[in-house]
Amino acid sequence: MTDPLLALRPWESPEVTSWGRLPMNAVDRRAGAHSLDGDWRFQLLSAPHAPVGGAWSTAAVPGVWTMQGTDDLPQYLNIRMPFADVPPLSPADNPTGVYEREVDVPAEWTGRRIVLQVGAAESVLLVHVDGRPVGLSKDSHLAAEFDLTEVVRPGERSVLRLTVVKWSDASHIEDQDHWWHGGLTRSVLLYATDPLRLADVTVRARQDGELRVDCLVRDTGGALPEGWYVSGELEGLGPVGLELTQDAAFDLANAEDERVSAFLGEARMQARVPEVRTWTAETPELYDLTVRLHRADGRVADVSRHRIGFRDVEIVGRDLLVNGERIFIRGVNRHDFHPLTGRTVSYDDMRADLVLLKRFGFNAIRTAHYPNDPTLYDLADELGFYVVDEADIESHDHAHEIADDPRYLNAFVDRVSRMVLRDKNHPSVIIWSLGNESDYGANHDAAAGWVRRHDPTRPVQYEGAAKLGWADPKLASDIACPMYAPLEDCVAHALSGEQTKPLIQCEYSHAMGNSNGTLADHWAAIEATPGLQGGFIWEFWDHGILQTVNDGRPVGRGGAGLYDNGVTAPGYRWAYGGDFGEKDHDGAFIADGVVFPDRTPKPVMFEHREISAPVRLEGFRHEGLVVSNHQHFRGLEWLAGRWELSLADGRTLTAPAELPALLPGETAVVPLPLELPADGGEAWLTLRVTTAEELPWAPQGTDVCAPQVRLRAAEPVTEQTVASRVEVDAEGLLVHPLLTAAPTLSLWRAPTDNDELGGMALRWRTWGLDSLVRKLVSVHRDGVSVTVDAEYAGATGVVRHRQVFTPVDGGLRVEERAELPEEFDDVARVGSVFETVAGLDLLEWFGQGPWESYPDRSGGAPVGHHSLPVDALFTPYLRPQESGGRHGVRRFTLSAPDATGLAVTLDEPRQVSVTRFTAEDLTAAAHHDELTPRAGCVVHLDAAHRGLGTASCGPDTFPSYLVAPGVHHWSWTLRVL
Ligand code: GAL
Ligand code: MG
Repeated sequence: MTDPLLALRPWESPEVTSWGRLPMNAVDRRAGAHSLDGDWRFQLLSAPHAPVGGAWSTAAVPGVWTMQGTDDLPQYLNIRMPFADVPPLSPADNPTGVYEREVDVPAEWTGRRIVLQVGAAESVLLVHVDGRPVGLSKDSHLAAEFDLTEVVRPGERSVLRLTVVKWSDASHIEDQDHWWHGGLTRSVLLYATDPLRLADVTVRARQDGELRVDCLVRDTGGALPEGWYVSGELEGLGPVGLELTQDAAFDLANAEDERVSAFLGEARMQARVPEVRTWTAETPELYDLTVRLHRADGRVADVSRHRIGFRDVEIVGRDLLVNGERIFIRGVNRHDFHPLTGRTVSYDDMRADLVLLKRFGFNAIRTAHYPNDPTLYDLADELGFYVVDEADIESHDHAHEIADDPRYLNAFVDRVSRMVLRDKNHPSVIIWSLGNESDYGANHDAAAGWVRRHDPTRPVQYEGAAKLGWADPKLASDIACPMYAPLEDCVAHALSGEQTKPLIQCEYSHAMGNSNGTLADHWAAIEATPGLQGGFIWEFWDHGILQTVNDGRPVGRGGAGLYDNGVTAPGYRWAYGGDFGEKDHDGAFIADGVVFPDRTPKPVMFEHREISAPVRLEGFRHEGLVVSNHQHFRGLEWLAGRWELSLADGRTLTAPAELPALLPGETAVVPLPLELPADGGEAWLTLRVTTAEELPWAPQGTDVCAPQVRLRAAEPVTEQTVASRVEVDAEGLLVHPLLTAAPTLSLWRAPTDNDELGGMALRWRTWGLDSLVRKLVSVHRDGVSVTVDAEYAGATGVVRHRQVFTPVDGGLRVEERAELPEEFDDVARVGSVFETVAGLDLLEWFGQGPWESYPDRSGGAPVGHHSLPVDALFTPYLRPQESGGRHGVRRFTLSAPDATGLAVTLDEPRQVSVTRFTAEDLTAAAHHDELTPRAGCVVHLDAAHRGLGTASCGPDTFPSYLVAPGVHHWSWTLRVL
């Protein structure tokens, strides 16, 4: 007999979103439930109709089978669907995972209602118990619950089978930009309740302490027994305790409805909490609320526990307000990702993500592009994040057809409403998002209508609607939430007088490879322009999957310890699109996060930490330093400070700092903490700010920010020429005992992802900048100086280059001049490159640092004395590219452990990089396992270096960060230590 679930062909029926599935609600049943996680019997069929065989393997639940040894491997596609079938069809070849296990139903559950909860399954879930069909569900990132009371027997053993069909009509609306997987990605639970139970609890907790708790009580049939009631108990983090009782007036009003029996199953409790401590991302104050359903004799039939926060969200004019304050959204888009498990993330993983974000100044998350595991919201409430909760709808490849397709109407409303029903009680959730990149149609308006009615307390956003008109009130978006809008367009809109909605970019500053140029410029504009409130960086993760190089398979769960600091062990690498043999893929576009696949922060994280500094130094006047509090809701009590004065002569003086008592937005002038020595040259004063106490997300002493002011500018240095001989070879190349490759002109950098996808690298290659041919023109000796003229010929133009070598006290001065033809109007760099002997493994420099910085990503790195091993200077962006630069370098030494080596002094602060790879090495490699580090160092000193921008998806850098054609001058002095 055909299984009725299969007979429905639910994988090609978008109208069928579920069958036998229980309504979503906000009663958390995780505590006290029986976990069914662990190893299950497993087999992978070639299609849902294929017969289940006798040969089982095992699979870990939760987990994706695509990472557990099957031949169905992960595939990365951004927009294109992985199959040609148009909506609502799916391919005949359709991997289908059959998971099976025995379940022992506890004998003490007799008389109780027994519920199965499947945390998440992608994309169609079919449930059978002992061969009997129980239900089906779609919506791959939300739980599905099924009532098993009629199909299992307490005290007995049943066989539970979960069949997961990978491709379906639903895949067409789950076309998000990440890996395609298949499996059960979240936990599976079994729990029991009284047949009469709390079916839902809705909490409204306002900034003024007003609390309303609406309870929905359901039974399995029949009238509510006489005398049952609900109660509530609120426990504060302090002494506040509050008893809540059922609101009789509300019940009475309900009872007056004569069409129903006396009890509608709705009960309300209300209270006002005195001196309430309000919730914000800065002050995540939570109260424990316990809601109880009582039998007539007072005994408890059901309990629902909530951690609630009192706060208001509203839009007033064009401002998004939390508790009446216009906040800044320092957000990031976060996918569920793990390099070993694909999509399954544990409590520890989620906590680690949020702790890291907190430490780097982020205060907001967009759950791109689907509802996350419930734990993520608990953690966001607890640690303090504003959340844009996004429904699992992205129909990118077929967006236009689906947005108005009535066959998908149910799915849109189902997905959005289920998310709202589940997450409505989280204070962290401040905005609902209808999904991503799905065009705009009636299906969206239907979903928005449902939300607005059900939850009038939060705004709704949807980029696909907002893009039709940032100020248009008719569209289903209360926020103007563009993606990758040019900054000047945002500013112009805010200044236009036409703005009606808060402007918060749902995605901006695309973090692919070496990127996030102009982030500091964005924030300078956001903070200075009323109407702009921030945005969400795209994105948190580089989704590299740990892969064995020789057989190309995902390593899977056993791979912990095979990576460190973003770098994989030999024989392994981070796989991106194409690395699993996929014919269709979108390459390294999956590696576009602010952290590596092992969560190691990329340099942009440090930049972000400074940009979002809660305390700033606004400047230096003769009365002292202007210190300000840049937070919205709290003072500086949680911070400690230390002053650090860095002098160009190498000295660093320190003094303890006492942070002034400042309310949000206030400034104060504090006296200069250290006397500025009369000598020592350029001087920078830094306020090193750390956490003063242990916080849930940081131990005491964790770095928070390091704002800085310059107290004295550099003085020009004059170097004495000495009588000594400079050696150059027959090609006019410098001969120096510490250099294995003489300084030559460089106009090439290993293209960043932005350079490649933005089209710059193509122009550079067309000009021949990757293979300039040097030709010596002349060598002149003039006294002690040697002047070498050379030409560097590209495919379409010639660069004239001159070097003048002059012996100076203790070394050699190199004065350089390069003249770029007009057609080379946007090159990567103009500068010198040379290579050193092996053994010089420590870089010490005076300049910005210590983290990597570039001209348009240097807003935060403080000027000071920094030192790092050469190997630690390089950032291993997944696809090798330009990396390791330091901006604003005044001088540096490269030394061996015995302190011998070389010292370079630059004429002015310059972009410098010291790595083990030439630009050509990096250009030629697609993965790091293809690179062999050189024993010596490759040193670049740039007269000019192009900004990074974000052109892999979004705006390029600003014109002010481009390298102009024409004449460039730079000079530097090389000394032997
Ligand atoms: C956006 C999209 C994201 C991601 C990003 C590029 O258009 O919403 O999912 O694809 O571009 O990395
Ligand atoms: Mg997309």
